[in-house]
Amino acid sequence: MEFKNKVALVTGAGSGIGRSCALMFASEGANVIVSDFNDKSGKETVALIQAENGKAHFIQTDVSKWSDMEALHVEIEEKFGRVDIAINNAGIAGIPAWTIDTSIEEWDRIMAPNSTSVFYGMKLQIAMMLKQGGGIIVNTASIAGLRGLPRSIAYSASKHAVVGVTKTASLEYCKKNIRINAVCPAFTVTQLFNSEMMDSFSAGLSDKLKKAIPINRFGKVDEIANSILWLCSEKASFMHGVALPVDGGLTA
Ligand code: NAI
Repeated sequence: MEFKNKVALVTGAGSGIGRSCALMFASEGANVIVSDFNDKSGKETVALIQAENGKAHFIQTDVSKWSDMEALHVEIEEKFGRVDIAINNAGIAGIPAWTIDTSIEEWDRIMAPNSTSVFYGMKLQIAMMLKQGGGIIVNTASIAGLRGLPRSIAYSASKHAVVGVTKTASLEYCKKNIRINAVCPAFTVTQLFNSEMMDSFSAGLSDKLKKAIPINRFGKVDEIANSILWLCSEKASFMHGVALPVDGGLTA
């Protein structure tokens, strides 16, 4: 019960890595705020938590909209009075294309939910954490935030931005009892990334990607969620401003 009675916000908690984090935080005693723009899947996550006698509350949010993010944090403050842990995790994948074929619309479509949202989130969360005397934030970046990824210029830029804002905010607030880190997963099986989808872009692509990972398999959502929970735990008390690869050895 590492997170007993902590208030933990997870964005993009209706699916994949975010849902896995929400379930784990709840099973460790946290009061979980499940946030997603998908009303149905967000409520499903809450139902899964409550079925195990956990505590969860759904708030529908589009993380790419400042007004939604403000409303989310106002509701958290009104209902719970604080936010001990915030996982800025919601994000979307790009459509594979070479740089010169990437449209301006595609660039804007990716940057808003993947990077601008993390700035919005941290701006609001850090303000609350300063008032309450501390807190912990983990942002979901990607290996695409640590290295280039051909045919993914917008996605890669968006995840490098997540690493940049994580390090900067960490340096600004580490003396105020606020720990801020990022995780950088490699290919992890979710609705955002899976073999069928990759093969629909190009036959055999999924096998090629698997072979690029030294342990020759994709990640599992629980493996990423475990690393996020560890970063939020007391065991990670000396971790500040880190972009932690969780990647089967890919960036090694
Ligand atoms: P997923 O698609 O399973 O889950 C993402 C969730 O975010 C969904 O429930 C979706 O409804 C929600 N979401 C998307 N846009 C939103 C918005 N504007 N506002 C609110 N909610 C929104 O995807 P997955 O894989 O769990 O992705 C989670 C994070 O992990 C993303 O930031 C992604 O970029 C990152 N990531 C995923 C990798 C993978 O291979 N699956 C690898 C590296 C990073």
